[in-house]
Amino acid sequence: MHNKDRSNLVRQAVYAIQHPGRVPRHVRRLARDTWLRLRSPDHTSYYRAVMRSDTARSPYSAVGSKSRERWIKMGRTQFDYLLKHGLRPEHRVLEIGCGNLRAGRLLIDYLDTGHYFGIDISPDILIAAQNTIVDYGLREKLPNLTPVRDLKFAFLPDRHFDVVHAHSVFSHSPLHVIEECFTHVGRVLAPDGWFDFTFDRTEGKEHQVLREDFYYHTETLVDLAGRHGLVATFMEDWERLPPKQSKIRVTLPGRNGHA
Ligand SMILES: C[S@@+](CC[C@H](N)C(=O)[O-])C[C@H]1O[C@@H](n2cnc3c(N)ncnc32)[C@H](O)[C@@H]1O
Repeated sequence: MHNKDRSNLVRQAVYAIQHPGRVPRHVRRLARDTWLRLRSPDHTSYYRAVMRSDTARSPYSAVGSKSRERWIKMGRTQFDYLLKHGLRPEHRVLEIGCGNLRAGRLLIDYLDTGHYFGIDISPDILIAAQNTIVDYGLREKLPNLTPVRDLKFAFLPDRHFDVVHAHSVFSHSPLHVIEECFTHVGRVLAPDGWFDFTFDRTEGKEHQVLREDFYYHTETLVDLAGRHGLVATFMEDWERLPPKQSKIRVTLPGRNGHA
């Protein structure tokens, strides 16, 4: 057994002792996830299968909200933050891992027609997203919802998006997926644009749980962005808001304009 695996097992045992009520759910997830992982050739296929299983139960909980009320609240928090930071209706927004449009429905409503572009690795959650469009009467805004296999953005134009947004996506991503995004996101970002993403921050040892949840140091992600020619800033004002995740903003060097 690798040292890394052993330290993960120790971490899980300590967690189980501290939270005994969560053990049965964790064991059920462990069984399901092991089965899905054995059948999946890579992380993206694995996580797509997790999303398929979770979405079948409830699209709200599949994106991390225990109820519809919480789903509405979390979407509002994301949207209000972007507004406060200078989002305007004429901006073009790319949402990575848009899910069933928790924030997307508010973005679509606010932005000019055709200015919202959502991508996701899960066709199942994108079908739930179509239901959100119908439920909120957003058809006329012609949002674009597209399934993807990777984060290379190969089919998207250069310097097109003023805002790129990824909430609770890198918290489910191994580093090589985040690096793929950093390698390519600069090409699609407008010169004065910004890319905000959240992540699960740890000040202890970086680790993952069930290959579903990944915990990083801020410096790991800031340095990685820097190695790909991007400027990354930890967003202190986001820390004051309810979400447990932290937020980093990535921009192109020499950018001016938005906050
Ligand atoms: C926790 S949900 C959050 C959804 C949405 N951002 C929100 O805040 O409601 C994570 C979403 O990211 C998607 N996802 C995970 N990894 C991805 C990747 N590498 N590329 C695109 N989407 C991804 C999942 O399918 C899922 O819909």
